[in-house]
Amino acid sequence: MESQSVGNSELRSSRLVYGCMRIVGDYSAEARQKGKQALRTALEAGFTHFDHADIYGDGKCEELFGEVLQENPGLRQKILITSKCGIRRKGQPNPEDPARYDFSEGHILQSVAGSLKRLKTDYLDILLLHRPDYLFSAEEVAGAFEKLKNSGKVRHFGVSNFRPSQVNLLQKYCPIPIITNQVEINIHNISSLLDGTLDQCQELNISPQAWCPLGGVVYPAWGNTFTEETEIRIKREFDLQAEKYNTANWIIMLAWLLKHPARIFPIIGTTTPARITAALQALTIKYSREDWYRLLEARNGYPVP
Ligand SMILES: NC(=O)c1ccc[n+]([C@@H]2O[C@H](COP(=O)([O-])OP(=O)(O)OC[C@H]3O[C@@H](n4cnc5c(N)ncnc54)[C@H](OP(=O)(O)O)[C@@H]3O)[C@@H](O)[C@H]2O)c1
Repeated sequence: MESQSVGNSELRSSRLVYGCMRIVGDYSAEARQKGKQALRTALEAGFTHFDHADIYGDGKCEELFGEVLQENPGLRQKILITSKCGIRRKGQPNPEDPARYDFSEGHILQSVAGSLKRLKTDYLDILLLHRPDYLFSAEEVAGAFEKLKNSGKVRHFGVSNFRPSQVNLLQKYCPIPIITNQVEINIHNISSLLDGTLDQCQELNISPQAWCPLGGVVYPAWGNTFTEETEIRIKREFDLQAEKYNTANWIIMLAWLLKHPARIFPIIGTTTPARITAALQALTIKYSREDWYRLLEARNGYPVP
């Protein structure tokens, strides 16, 4: 699979990133086997970048990935591993604790230590702050990043679900460059096109990554606001384009993301081997500007002014 740089770093990532949020399914032995098969398929298909978070499957996703690393000596050096920190679940560590965000130095360092242990690796290629902590001190985060970089535990840093103002705030106090911003981008959620996120990514050489890229195509997106009429209109356009490019609707969605000049990395979350392999079709499509706007128009229900 083709690769591209992540931000202005030396890291090169496969153009499609494999998302590990679903690899333990319902935690059953059967689901774990399916997850391992998905990882093997992704590796064979040329994915070299795997996305995790300390909270995925309550740590079980990282643990499963750690098993795959142990079973495949030499694999670690050939791939990039991203993980995330900063979300704390209700009841952790004390039963009365609320769900919250936590970018305190203590929590960031503790979270990374947990991820490394579960993943059975000495370092993360990229650490992301998962969702903006309303109470974050940019200086404190900068201090935590410096410690992690100096100790060799994390090579590079990024953010997730950050607005441009929050990236600016962090970078004002943090000399280490943010190399990626992982945000939701799909046919339902196009906020990053409108709120300056993708502009800032291009301006500062930050690589955007798209999570839940297929929301609104193969399953209802988070907080779905589409009416039935809108869904029918969008599907009609997807169907037309899928026929034209001789592919499936969801592949068209990936091509739509790949067309953007900010060089978005879509994160592929399916655990079905045939779909993991099929996702690569999106890289071969010569997707036109006209079709990109046709899909936008179908989504919006009106042409651009
Ligand atoms: N930073 C954040 O806040 C954040 C939030 C959410 C996710 N993420 C990351 O983004 C990654 C991708 O998110 P995602 O898993 O939601 O991605 P996705 O690729 O949009 O969705 C994957 C889901 O869609 C289903 N699916 C895929 N193709 C399908 C098709 N053709 N027909 C029917 N169902 C289909 C999959 O089912 P099967 O598995 O059965 O194929 C799976 O349940 C995650 O793994 C995680 O790493 C980050």
